Amino acid sequence: MSNTHTIEIIHNGETQTFTAPEDQTILNAAGDAGIELPSSCLSGVCTTCAGKVISGEIHHPDAMGVSPELKEQGFTLLCAAYARSDMKIEAAQEDQLYELQFGQFQN
Ligand code: FES
Repeated sequence: MSNTHTIEIIHNGETQTFTAPEDQTILNAAGDAGIELPSSCLSGVCTTCAGKVISGEIHHPDAMGVSPELKEQGFTLLCAAYARSDMKIEAAQEDQLYELQFGQFQN
């Protein structure tokens, strides 16, 4: 038995709530709840499933597509992320993540 947390996810301007066990990725748990989020590689490298943590604690050692700096700002890859508390997350952050990670020479 693992702990289960309540996740509020903002996607397409709507907030939906589902529960995620600590040993299931947030992307998977959302899918089980019938919430379709963007995804592709499912292994933490492509950033299609990028999200941003608004509140709560995340565990994502395999989210390789996000730099440590951006992880500190709350970015994560939901296919490689596990909840460690109740959380609020903004989904579909791929463009924002890309801009911050690769658009850094523009400022
Ligand atoms: S689906 Fe590719 S990083 Fe999550």
